[in-house]
Amino acid sequence: MDGDFLLLNPGPVPVSDGVREAMSAPMMSHRSAKFEAIYERAQSGAEYVFTHSTPGETDTSVPGETLIFNGTATMAMEAAVANVVEPGDEVVSLVNGKFGRRFARIADRYTDAVTRVEVPWGESIPLADVDAAVSDETTMVTMVHNETSTGLQNPAWGVGRIARESDAIFVLDGVTSIGGDVFSLEDWCVDIALTDAQKALAAPPGTSAMYLTERAADRIDGESAPFYEDLDWHLRKADSHQTPFTSAIPLYLGLAEAVEEIESEGMPARIARHHRQARAFRDGFTEMGLDLFATASDHTVLSNTLTAVSLPESIRGDDDEFMAAVAERNVSISGGQAHLGGEIFRVSNMGRFADEDIVRGVRTVGEAMTDVGVDVDTDAGIAAANRRLE
Ligand SMILES: Cc1ncc(COP(=O)(O)O)c(C=O)c1O
Repeated sequence: MDGDFLLLNPGPVPVSDGVREAMSAPMMSHRSAKFEAIYERAQSGAEYVFTHSTPGETDTSVPGETLIFNGTATMAMEAAVANVVEPGDEVVSLVNGKFGRRFARIADRYTDAVTRVEVPWGESIPLADVDAAVSDETTMVTMVHNETSTGLQNPAWGVGRIARESDAIFVLDGVTSIGGDVFSLEDWCVDIALTDAQKALAAPPGTSAMYLTERAADRIDGESAPFYEDLDWHLRKADSHQTPFTSAIPLYLGLAEAVEEIESEGMPARIARHHRQARAFRDGFTEMGLDLFATASDHTVLSNTLTAVSLPESIRGDDDEFMAAVAERNVSISGGQAHLGGEIFRVSNMGRFADEDIVRGVRTVGEAMTDVGVDVDTDAGIAAANRRLE
C-alpha cells in the first residue's frame, strides 16, 4: 500500500480533522440553546456559500432563507418539487445524466405533465431546446448544475433566464458545484438552490442545505408536501434555528465546522483551487493517452469538481481488475453509474485536496492502467498535471 488512504470518489469526500473532532462532542438536546447556536453556525456558513460564490467576493444574495435538512440532497430535491408543484402543473426537467433523470422522476410523482429536455448522458443540452420547451404555462424548471454521473456542467445562467422570462420557478441542484465552483442566485435567476453536505462542502453525509428565495417561498404550499418535507414548517422552525423534527446533531456539528472552514478559505480562493485541480486531472489523464467522457458544446462546459474518463476499449465492459489495481494503491475512485457501469471511471477534486493528492490520483490511474495491459504514458500525465498545478 502506498501512503494514506486517498478517497477520490465524487462524494462522500474526505473531511478535515476539525470536522471529525466536532462530531465527537457530547450529546445534547436538539431543543437547547446550545443546539440552536450550532444550527445557526451551519445556516450562516451555508448562506455565505450560497451568496458569495462569484469571483471578487460579490454578494449575490436575493431575499430568502437558508435551511438545513436532516436528509441528503434527494430529500431537498423532492421538497423543492413537492411544495410547489400541484397535480397537472407543467414541469420542464433537463436530463443529460443520472441526477437530471432523478429530478424528472421526482417530478413525475407530483404531476403527470413533466416535459423532459433530454439528450444522451454526457452530451450537452442546447439552450434553444430548453427555450422551446418552457412556456408561460410552465410552473417549474429543474436542472442539475454539475452532472456528477458524467462530468458536465450545465448552463445555469441561460436556463435560469429562460425560466424567469416565463415566470417559472427555477430549481437548481448544485450538489457537486455549490461550495466548489461559481454560483449566483441573482445573476442566474435561481429560485431554489440545494446542495449536499458530503460533496463540495466537505462535511459528513446525512444533511443537505437549501436556499429558498422569498419568490419561491411565496409559491409554496407545505401541506401538499410529504409531512417531513413541509417547507412552511421548516421555515418557521429555522427562524429559531431549529428543525421540525429531531436534528442529526453530530452531522450538524460537522457541517457547522466545515462551512466555517470554507469561510476562512474564502469562496474565490476555493473556486480557483477547484478549477486548477480539475484542469490538472483533465490534463493528466489526456496527456497519458486517455479520453475524457463528456462532450461539452453549446454553453455547457466540463465540470470543475469531478472528471469522468472513458475506459479504453481493451477493458471496457469489465473494470474489475482496473479498480482492484487502483484499490491496491490505497486509492478509491468511482466507476460509471447505471448504463455507464464499465464504460467510465470518475474522480473528484471536491473539498480540501492538496495538489499532491491530485498528482497521486493521476499516477495511480496510470499505474493501474499499465497493470491491466493498457499502454499509457504515466510520466507524461504526471508532468502535465504538475504543470497545471504550478
Ligand atoms: C448532482 C447530484 N444530485 C443529487 C444527488 C443525490 O444525493 P444523495 O444521494 O446524497 O441524496 C447526487 C449524489 O451523488 C448528485 O451528485
